Amino acid sequence: MNHRTTTHRRALAGGAIALVAALALAGCGDGSDSKDSADKPELEVSGAFIPEPTMDDMAAGFLRIDNKGAADKLTSATSDIAGDITLHSSKGGVMKEQDSFDVPADGELDFTRGGNHLMLEKLKRKPKQGEKVAVTLHFQKSDPVKIEVPVKEATYNPEQQGESAHGSHKSH
Ligand code: CU
Repeated sequence: MNHRTTTHRRALAGGAIALVAALALAGCGDGSDSKDSADKPELEVSGAFIPEPTMDDMAAGFLRIDNKGAADKLTSATSDIAGDITLHSSKGGVMKEQDSFDVPADGELDFTRGGNHLMLEKLKRKPKQGEKVAVTLHFQKSDPVKIEVPVKEATYNPEQQGESAHGSHKSH
């Protein structure tokens, strides 16, 4: 009985090693690093806004990044008025902090109400409607992009299409 168990374990261990080897090979095979990085990302930020926050220490930011070049990654954002800015994804009302967001090649990255958003945290002062907040976006490849983000009314939503049930920040 004992002998049998040992054999079984060995078989399992062998399988696990084979699996790891296969994964390692697949990782090498993707080859995207060997390409010459001559084609660069070409980013353009538009439509940025911050709804005037209802909370004192937190505000959400929305924007759109168009990319006419190679793939890039939004890795962080900073602002003088926020002690910290985190990147959030939101799917089906569930919010998750992300380390980065992909900006696909010849594609776009959208931050919209009810979806992805920047969370400006530890606000040093509360942004008021009508003013502009300087935010700098940091990317994996591209140089940082500094934008002036207008503060809009609390309910502002350029994409509103009759669906406004989500988007509240109760879970913060
Ligand atoms: Cu959030």
